[in-house]
Amino acid sequence: MREQWGSQAGFILAAVGSAVGLGNIWRFAYAAGENGGGAFLLVYLFVVLTLGVPLVVAEIAIGKHGRADGVTAFERLAPDSAWRRVGWLGVAGSALILAYYSVIAGWALRYFFAAARGTLWDRPPGGFAEGFSAFIAHPIEPLGWHAAMMALSMAVVVAGVARGIERACLWLMPMLALIVVALAGFALTLPGSSGGVAFLFGPTWSALLDPRVILAAMGQAFFSIGLGMAVYITYGGYLRPEQRIPGPAAAIVACDTTFAIIAGLAIFPAVFAFGGNPAAGAELAFITLPDIFLAMPGGRAVAIAFFFLLSAAALTSMISLIEVPVAALMQRAGLRRRVAVLAVGGAALLGGVPPALGYGPLAWLNVTGRPLLEEVDHVVSNLILPLAGFGLALFFGWVLPAGTALELAGIRGVAGALLLCAIRYLAPAFILGLMLFRLASG
Ligand code: PFF
Repeated sequence: MREQWGSQAGFILAAVGSAVGLGNIWRFAYAAGENGGGAFLLVYLFVVLTLGVPLVVAEIAIGKHGRADGVTAFERLAPDSAWRRVGWLGVAGSALILAYYSVIAGWALRYFFAAARGTLWDRPPGGFAEGFSAFIAHPIEPLGWHAAMMALSMAVVVAGVARGIERACLWLMPMLALIVVALAGFALTLPGSSGGVAFLFGPTWSALLDPRVILAAMGQAFFSIGLGMAVYITYGGYLRPEQRIPGPAAAIVACDTTFAIIAGLAIFPAVFAFGGNPAAGAELAFITLPDIFLAMPGGRAVAIAFFFLLSAAALTSMISLIEVPVAALMQRAGLRRRVAVLAVGGAALLGGVPPALGYGPLAWLNVTGRPLLEEVDHVVSNLILPLAGFGLALFFGWVLPAGTALELAGIRGVAGALLLCAIRYLAPAFILGLMLFRLASG
């Protein structure tokens, strides 16, 4: 019999577990930091509301109807058509993300252990910047942590949908919510923290019309929600017929966004209180924050909580990234869950080697001069995810008859009209416009 979620809450928390990850903490903080804080947040909220919620509804609806993996679900709605390729893009994309995502998750896990054991505080002469650079350039260490994260995630997915994925998220997600709220509460009491709040909520109006800011905000929204990678199709495939879609979809996106904002309220006030640079880039979490933890009262405990949060949030996202190709392999190649998990995890383990070593032995392996990992992350967020979202919008908005689409989504009346409008016109136009801008600006 096909696997199913144990409860509605279990489904929502599993989906929130997928959405909430490195994207909300590590990536959101640096993307907002680099793109002007408040302006970025405004565009981000716009994209999340107008594109995020409708596309999540569409994905879940496709999956729930198909009761199948990301590829088969498309086939069941449009047999013998090329639209299954949108599903394949999701399956291949999630495997690609899994490979490099696990490397960063491994960094977080290493920092968690180092913070817990106290070794994080043996600062090298050049400070945390030097410590971090030496660690990520090491020829073996990052691989070990990458493998550890992969093994942990595989262990959860092997246990199955309800007993593995759902159970892990039922435990971890409430815990992570408590930790991030506590961290934000603490950061906001630090003297000088208000600069961080102003940075995050005070829009710089000129940045609002900057296409680069808009592109970065869209990329961040797609990555953070995890759109287009067939996660919601796959997870929707384990729903029961009577379970509804619109409420959970809105709840999932709302949780993801709230989590990112609260994480921002944990990070920026601390950065401002201690005179750090909010636009430090990808290294904000691994260089700037440890310095701050060291300087703040009780900072060592805060560091343990923060890196636990980062590692566990990454774990629940990796679980979903594994489950997408696993479900496809189980259904389409008839593999047993255990074999499929081994195949996907093993492939991603190997795939993660080049990005993991791209700061050290394989530093020469890049196209634009940026480290391979950051290059792949850019292409994924600003190109692959939006393209997959574009395909999804065309399929749901134009290929399916309007009546069918709304029936699958379980939405009627004004809400239905708004949903169709967003998916038919707004999403494709918005994504296409930004892609063209990107091509034009090189
Ligand atoms: N949403 C996750 C995060 O914010 O870290 C990352 C992710 C998960 C991206 C699943 C894509 C995906 F399909």
